Amino acid sequence: MAQDHAAPAPRKADKAALAPVVSGGGIDLLINGEHFNHTGDPDLPLLWYLRDVLRLDGTKYGGEHGEGGADLVLVDGKAVSAIGVPMSKLQGRKVVTVEGLADAKGTLHPLQQAFIDEDAIGCGYCTPGWLIASMDLLTRHKDPSDSDIDTLPNLCRCGCQTRVRKAVKRAAAAMKQGAKA
Ligand code: FES
Repeated sequence: MAQDHAAPAPRKADKAALAPVVSGGGIDLLINGEHFNHTGDPDLPLLWYLRDVLRLDGTKYGGEHGEGGADLVLVDGKAVSAIGVPMSKLQGRKVVTVEGLADAKGTLHPLQQAFIDEDAIGCGYCTPGWLIASMDLLTRHKDPSDSDIDTLPNLCRCGCQTRVRKAVKRAAAAMKQGAKA
């Protein structure tokens, strides 16, 4: 009996394959759009997974309770303290760090550009946290007031708060303009 030796047709890339799935073990999550599987200590704080395992060191240590907001990341769109979240809580979650704010071509997010334009960066230690907290804020307030911005948990020891306010407002205006374009 004749056998068909034709090679099977190549399978198209399946976007669903990029979504987190429960695998044979470990914790599956998306970080900046990439799929990762953590098979180590489930109690490891996300901050140390980012910094020590993935070498994404934009997110900073601000203290064991996340004081000052330097360790903020977005988890499913909300700003959370990366030191306060163990990997065991992240199955199937989407994490965005400061490294994930620019687009695939490297074009800065309007918030990043606004921080540069308003010179809202001193030593830079606090900046990733401000950017993440501001991302979260701008999803809730398209036109934030100074008092909205002052609700952010971030601290800047270089005294950039006033320029951060201006930067967040500048970004809000740019994002509104971009949405209209
Ligand atoms: S820029 Fe230095 S702590 Fe904020």
